[in-house]
Amino acid sequence: MKVQHDISLKQYNTFGIEAKAKSFAGFETTDELAELLEYNENQNSSHQQKILILGGGSNILLKKDFNGLVLKNNLLGIHEVKEDGQHVYVQVGAGEVWHRFVLHCIDKGWAGVENLSLIPGNVGASPMQNIGAYGVEIKDVFYSLEAFHVKDKKNIHFSLNDCEFGYRESVFKRKYKDEFVITNVTYRLNKVPDFNISYGAIKQELEKMAVTDLSLQAVSQAVINIRSSKLPNPDVIGNAGSFFKNPEIENLKFKSLKEQYPAIVGYDLPNGNVKLAAGWLIEHCGWKGYRKADAGCHEKQALVLVNYGNATGEEIYNLSEEILQSVKRKFDVLLEREVNIV
Ligand code: FAD
Ligand code: EPU
Repeated sequence: MKVQHDISLKQYNTFGIEAKAKSFAGFETTDELAELLEYNENQNSSHQQKILILGGGSNILLKKDFNGLVLKNNLLGIHEVKEDGQHVYVQVGAGEVWHRFVLHCIDKGWAGVENLSLIPGNVGASPMQNIGAYGVEIKDVFYSLEAFHVKDKKNIHFSLNDCEFGYRESVFKRKYKDEFVITNVTYRLNKVPDFNISYGAIKQELEKMAVTDLSLQAVSQAVINIRSSKLPNPDVIGNAGSFFKNPEIENLKFKSLKEQYPAIVGYDLPNGNVKLAAGWLIEHCGWKGYRKADAGCHEKQALVLVNYGNATGEEIYNLSEEILQSVKRKFDVLLEREVNIV
């Protein structure tokens, strides 16, 4: 067990924000995790620290130095645990890189996660906010997970229903916030692909690629091409993907907005409400391409806030607040942040 102190977190968050952790340690086994949690509890109460579980740091904004213990999850391993006629069940360590797992599935011919190609971050965070893209969410392939209870030091099993997945939501993001460390996730993948190419520009991209026989590789590549064309690469420009969620509003309100703004983008939901494209709202408040010092709103995707180099977490947060207020003023719609503010 090695605990370091006053560690820069710049390389551990895709926003590239310079912030320090008072203490920092990685863990490669659940025993090491338990040891670290005990070490923290055994400090006398004035030294016991709050903790932050860190995966790839691609969905956090560090607003200031973290005055506590950061625990970097390095639990690895990909194991087929069972199969039936149609499915293979694969248990994956929470510290595995998500996209590497997707590529592994494609290589093995296991279907279900190809539309989720190139999402940054680690497997352990995938159920946190039920990651989603191009018509697929993690809940569609999720089977179960194991999570270590921080206080009780026990492994708890969660089934699909236990996780209460919603749009960018789960029990881990709200009800059990900071109570559990997800240690592994089991996905139920299909032996025979049921391709989902109806969403967005996937079909057009496949045509552009001159694909005649659909394959997992082709769908994955189409998604990668679309994503690369509009989302900034965090290795080049710091960001955490969509900063806000797409808001849900009542149909009546959508109709009235549509009268005022005929081009407004919204999608009908099964419950009768409408999901608005937050990127459209933000763009039409004039923010797209905006930059103040090193904090900005991406020029190709207004939903993505960016750090051009040396922005502070506070500057990014303040920009998000200005955006939120202006969308509220212009459209009377309240945006909710998707990114976890630390
Ligand atoms: P982190 O940022 O490390 O952590 C996120 C939160 O989860 C934190 O609160 C952290 O404490 C908690 N956490 C992490 N691991 C664990 C664990 N093992 N146990 C308990 N809590 C944990 N998301 C989408 O859904 N769809 C997209 O299309 C998408 N596109 C993106 C594109 C870009 C360019 C970027 C930068 C981000 C994008 N994201 C997207 C957001 C992000 O990639 C996902 O939310 C991802 O799952 C975060 O994983 P992470 O390991 O980096 O999590
Ligand atoms: N739009 C604009 N201006 C913009 C951006 C978007 O007008 O600057 C409009 C366009 O009309 C576009 C529509 O918004 O057709 C939707 O845009 P896009 O397809 O880029 O998707 P999104 O709704 O902005 C969501 C997810 C992404 C996910 C994509 C693809 C949320 C909050 N975001 O973005 O997830 O990759 O769909 O499925 O739901 C993330 O969560 O971090 C993330 C990147």
